[in-house]
Amino acid sequence: MKTIIILGSTGSIGTNTLDIVQRFPEEFRVVGLTAGGNIEKLEEQIRAFKPKAVAVSTESSAAALRQRCASLPVEILAGEEGIAQVAAMPGAELVISAIVGAAGLVPTLAAIRSGKHIALANKEPMVMAGKLMQEEARKHGVRIFPVDSEHSAIFQSLEGHRIEDVRRLILTASGGALWTLTEKQLQDVTPERALQHPNWKMGSKITIDSATLMNKGLEVVEARWLFDIRESRIDVLIHRESIIHSLVEYEDRSMIAQLGLPDMRTPISYAMRYPERMPLDLPSLDLTEVGKLTFCKPDHDRFPCLNLGYESLRIGGTLPAAMNAANEVAVDAFLNGGIRFIEIAEVIRSTMDAHAHRDITCLDDALEADRWAREKAESLVHALPR
Ligand SMILES: NC(=O)c1ccc[n+]([C@@H]2O[C@H](COP(=O)([O-])OP(=O)(O)OC[C@H]3O[C@@H](n4cnc5c(N)ncnc54)[C@H](OP(=O)(O)O)[C@@H]3O)[C@@H](O)[C@H]2O)c1
Repeated sequence: MKTIIILGSTGSIGTNTLDIVQRFPEEFRVVGLTAGGNIEKLEEQIRAFKPKAVAVSTESSAAALRQRCASLPVEILAGEEGIAQVAAMPGAELVISAIVGAAGLVPTLAAIRSGKHIALANKEPMVMAGKLMQEEARKHGVRIFPVDSEHSAIFQSLEGHRIEDVRRLILTASGGALWTLTEKQLQDVTPERALQHPNWKMGSKITIDSATLMNKGLEVVEARWLFDIRESRIDVLIHRESIIHSLVEYEDRSMIAQLGLPDMRTPISYAMRYPERMPLDLPSLDLTEVGKLTFCKPDHDRFPCLNLGYESLRIGGTLPAAMNAANEVAVDAFLNGGIRFIEIAEVIRSTMDAHAHRDITCLDDALEADRWAREKAESLVHALPR
């Protein structure tokens, strides 16, 4: 039986993880859960999975949850510190890191520093401080298993091979909800339209990131640190069907890929039970039904955010953290009707241009860049004509 903690248990990855736990109760025991403010869902999860401790992002949510769970034997903590405490609590082997955004950095690092293996869905901390996270993981004997379907596919395609023999990693991208729109049509896109992802049902932030292709930009940075490979050896291919989840090309020009129907429970379960594969009882991929798979190059004119990811890596230091923070601010503003879809890329671009990057030597360097970029991006959002 593996003891686990889920950070972001009320989200899309969190609930998919709990679905796996529910299917295999003899395999996993949940000892800790954390959420933002959705205390109704967290209460249901506490009753169903009986964790020892949980945490939510504010003291007022924690107080309301304590009232609702007064008769239950669960410790309820609050704030970033409380979430980090749950992430590092003793008696757990694996932490599923599934908070959305930069809010996951401090708790994920706390989990690593407490010696727990990580199943990493929350890509933004890897973007902000990938080198630091990997150094800490090495220092504490921790393994970071990718959950992102593309990185899981690469991880699986690398199994049994030598990293020195890799020519390039090829991340596939569905292209998101707006791939077929013209530059002119992109100008009037509503949040509702941008949230209609063709293949995946995910949280709203990553769904917008998919539509801008920023998600692929973030994933390039994530791949750089997860697999310790230069950005010049990471390519992106648009593959609308999301059947090939990513590929590795080797020096002999062999390509190894991982295929499957789009269902996050497959990569989540692989990270949770590595190296075993779990009998998930999901529908099989029927390639005769799929018929054909299509591929094309990314369009950097309509979707400039992918190149921002590459650029942030080439320049390095705190720039990826600044880019990530600007993206979070811009996506939030778009979802709240504050800016137009095409302005997301403009806000990130201008924030990156204004950022005086420096090396990341400690957590505070990444957090300071995040703070600075949020302020800068907010001011850019407010300065845009309405
Ligand atoms: N969804 C996918 O299929 C998928 C695939 C690959 C990678 N990922 C990555 O996995 C991460 C999670 O994505 P998701 O789609 O599951 O997101 P989501 O559905 O929006 O869930 C986010 C989770 O984080 C919690 N949260 C939000 N803000 C928080 C804060 N400030 N402090 C603490 N907790 C906070 C939310 O709590 P409340 O519910 O209480 O707000 C929720 O539990 C992202 O980094 C995403 O890029 C997701």
